[in-house]
Amino acid sequence: MKYLVSVGSLPRIKADIAAVGIFEDGAPADFLVLDKSLEGSLSSSLKKEDFLPELGKTFEFRTQGYIKPLKVVVAGLGKKEDFSLDSCRRSASSVARKTRYAQKIATSLFGYELLGERAAQAYIEGWILGSYKFEKYKREKAETKQQELEIVMPRNSPVAQIREQIEKGEIIANSTIFARNLTNEPANLLLPSDLAEEAKKIAKKYGLGSKILDPSSEEMKSMGLLLGVGSGSRHPPKLIHLSYRPKNAKKHVALIGKGMTFDSGGLSLKSSEKMEGMKYDMAGAATVLATIKGAAELKLPVRISAIIPVAENMPGNDAMRPGDVLKASNDKTVEIVSTDAEGRLILADALCYACRQGVDEIIDVATLTGACAIALGKLSSGVMGNNDPMVEKLLEASSSAGEYMWRLPLYKEYKEQLKSEIADIKNMGDKEGGALTAALFLQEFVDRPWIHIDIAGTAWTEKQLDYCSKGATGVGVRTLLEYLRR
Ligand code: BES
Ligand code: ZN
Ligand code: ZN
Repeated sequence: MKYLVSVGSLPRIKADIAAVGIFEDGAPADFLVLDKSLEGSLSSSLKKEDFLPELGKTFEFRTQGYIKPLKVVVAGLGKKEDFSLDSCRRSASSVARKTRYAQKIATSLFGYELLGERAAQAYIEGWILGSYKFEKYKREKAETKQQELEIVMPRNSPVAQIREQIEKGEIIANSTIFARNLTNEPANLLLPSDLAEEAKKIAKKYGLGSKILDPSSEEMKSMGLLLGVGSGSRHPPKLIHLSYRPKNAKKHVALIGKGMTFDSGGLSLKSSEKMEGMKYDMAGAATVLATIKGAAELKLPVRISAIIPVAENMPGNDAMRPGDVLKASNDKTVEIVSTDAEGRLILADALCYACRQGVDEIIDVATLTGACAIALGKLSSGVMGNNDPMVEKLLEASSSAGEYMWRLPLYKEYKEQLKSEIADIKNMGDKEGGALTAALFLQEFVDRPWIHIDIAGTAWTEKQLDYCSKGATGVGVRTLLEYLRR
């Protein structure tokens, strides 16, 4: 698919479809021009059909030879005062889905008069993300004829800037899709070693540093928690470390992603309903890999270490048992209460590793607790952290990226729940506030600015969302790229 920009007027562009937006409370200039060249038949048809231009709705109209495009698709944009970058993503996504039968689509830039050229990035994101479906294992794939999308701008528009925004949008959306693809892979076809291979491929393609630890490496020998979680599976655990080191870097940020290729619960075996879907317990890893890939493509001026502990949580012969005591690589001892609270264990060793790299700040992303989804529902990720300005900055980035994130507190009183009779700490607290005690556990393994993003509720959707089909969402990639850019 090609994405172009031009200056001109929609009625005169040779295309199968011309797409324009209208607000509930008014039509922008490009709609009026189009309607005029159709001698008012478009607006009268909208009136006749009682089309209410709510956000995401579309209306199709045949142009009968009056103008060059064969059809007009009108996109509802909602109310002007509510229009945001995310409205632009949503409306672009609905046009993309409605026009799969067309080769060439010419479109106005929805909301340009309100948002300026930033709208172009959002438009392309919505278009690409809304078109995505995971069909790798289907022999029959949904057809699309689309080849070219041309954004047609009014005279004197900053075409060069818009082109830049389009490129940015393409990189960000394709990175998100990379994360969705990895997360949608079934666990039998994405073993820990496969995830490591994926990381190596990215490193090679973008010239990143790469280091992969496995149980035979000296450095992993001290990571008792990662080894413990991996011990019940015949597929050994890994620790992936990719580094992106641009010359003009101002900061060194560690991104840590939970890479549980499958979470059966281990000996604290999950019920079959809860186990279903646990192939996506590596969504955090996918997000982090996609982010470092996107950052390299965008050439962001920040040094990044992507650190991914990978394991499969299985109840094999050598599996860790409830009651076992394991030692982390910072020498803290952990009593295992539930082998199903395994994410925090592998993350703890990865956090210690990140601190040893001397990074300036750390962000971890993990499908960590069902409790987080209970607290915030399936539309918002939970954010916790030990540094207020950093959390503020991340939340601002998330709202501009169009991903809901909400802060949860780290009350020190709850640390009580993690006291163990026989070790330094235990791996589970009460079920109430479970997202917070999981984060408090992680906090014990960091000594610098740190944020934890719990994506257990948001990494996967059972429902089609505005620009996300059923399955993996790729959540976090857009927020992290925006955070790193800022
Ligand atoms: N991978 C799960 C968390 C999860 C739950 C992710 C639902 C996605 C959807 C995690 O490893 C887990 O099992 N957490 C337990 C923690 C408990 C044993 C303290 C949970 O949330 O029940
Ligand atoms: Zn678990
Ligand atoms: Zn898990």
